Amino acid sequence: MELKLVTANATDIDADAVVVLEWEGEPRPELEKSLADLYTSGEIKGKPNEFTLLHHLAGFKSRRTLIAGAGKREKFNPASLRKLAGAAVRHLKGKGIATLAFALDDAAGTPAHISAVAEGALLGGWEPDYLKTDKKEKDEPISAITIATRTADASLTAALEKGRVVAEAANLTRDIAVEPPNLLTPLALADRARKMSEACGLSFEVLDQDRMRQLGMGSLLGVAQGSDAPPAMIIMRYTPANATSKDHLGLVGKGVTFDTGGISIKPSEGMEKMKYDMAGGAAVIGAMQAIAHLKPSVAVTGIVPAVENMPGSNAQRPGDIVTSLSGKTIEILNTDAEGRLILADAITYAKQLGCTHLVDTATLTGAIVVALGHTSSGVFTNNDELLARWMTASVEAGENMWHMPLDDDYRDQLKTVYADIQNIGTRWGGACTAAMFLKEFAEDTPWVHVDVAGTAWLDDAKPSLAKGPTGVPLGTFVNLAMNWR
Ligand code: BES
Ligand code: MN
Ligand code: ZN
Repeated sequence: MELKLVTANATDIDADAVVVLEWEGEPRPELEKSLADLYTSGEIKGKPNEFTLLHHLAGFKSRRTLIAGAGKREKFNPASLRKLAGAAVRHLKGKGIATLAFALDDAAGTPAHISAVAEGALLGGWEPDYLKTDKKEKDEPISAITIATRTADASLTAALEKGRVVAEAANLTRDIAVEPPNLLTPLALADRARKMSEACGLSFEVLDQDRMRQLGMGSLLGVAQGSDAPPAMIIMRYTPANATSKDHLGLVGKGVTFDTGGISIKPSEGMEKMKYDMAGGAAVIGAMQAIAHLKPSVAVTGIVPAVENMPGSNAQRPGDIVTSLSGKTIEILNTDAEGRLILADAITYAKQLGCTHLVDTATLTGAIVVALGHTSSGVFTNNDELLARWMTASVEAGENMWHMPLDDDYRDQLKTVYADIQNIGTRWGGACTAAMFLKEFAEDTPWVHVDVAGTAWLDDAKPSLAKGPTGVPLGTFVNLAMNWR
């Protein structure tokens, strides 16, 4: 997709369609005459997600004009513009539009707005239909998008580029996350990461099963042993040319390519959704692609433990006790609490690689979906300073995050007489006990855990996004690295 920035007025843009913002309660003076009926009848109010498509609007060069409700001016921010751009692209899909322009008022002309509009438009164009073979079933994609502002400078061009890089990375994450589990095995996931790393100059390594055995990753291997598909520990490294500190950020993402639950098998209804149990890993792979292009000043290592959780004849049993890479022993009481088991070894390994700060993300618990629904990811931490950076980065990315508790009291639920820790707590506070389990392995290293079980996948399309994988929390990962001081 071609994406460019120009300085122009909405009326002068030659495109198949031009999108114009309409503020709630502020009819546009230049349109008040030609749109008088629409304004007085209340058809155009300027509310978010209100779109009115007009043909050959008087005074406009473009064939069509999309009047896009932007809401109240004082509530408008880059996150609202990101959504508006995505929804506009989706509104215009399948209407024979090849070239599209966004005409931005001064109120929407900052670098953050430019990144957001580029991002939103590219994200809105993505569809989960790559395995449909009938082309007629698919909408013709928009081939070029122009963003028109009143004034232009170098900071806006850089912002456009950032938006493109982030959205393309998020769409890579979504491409990977949407792949069905028969095709996206742990080794296939490693292959996607390898191709990405080679294409953008990251150093890349995979630990295979034998290597993981030598190192002592008993917690991960216990999960993997129920499947014929071999596991992989995927490692992608970005080293800055001019590091401004000795900090080394580790991004860890759960890569369970399918989660049947293992011997503690899940009910069949809805089990197909467990193909997105590698969405955290896919977000790390996408984030590393964006980081390779945007070149932050901090070293970043992406780590994705990849396994399939199956109830094969060699599967681990409830009652098994495994020794993790950290040396800590874990009693398995439920084989469906597998994400924390593979993350435990990945977190320990990240520390062994020298990471000084860690963020992990995982579709870890159903409990976080009960707590926060599909709108916010749950965030847990052992370090308030890293948490503050994470939250700031998330606001810029337009990804909703909610800080959840992690008091020592939750640790009591993980006590067992047979081993150092057990892998599940009680029915209650399941997202918190899962996070507590991970904290045991992060130890004193500043760490943030992001449970995206409710936010990494949309069961229904939104106006701005197709159904399926969302890419969350890739945008926050990228901003965290870019803002690092
Ligand atoms: N992958 C699931 C969590 C999940 C649930 C992700 C719903 C997305 C949507 C995870 O491995 C799991 O099975 N967790 C169990 C833990 C329980 C056994 C303690 C859960 O949440 O039920
Ligand atoms: Mn599970
Ligand atoms: Zn899982």
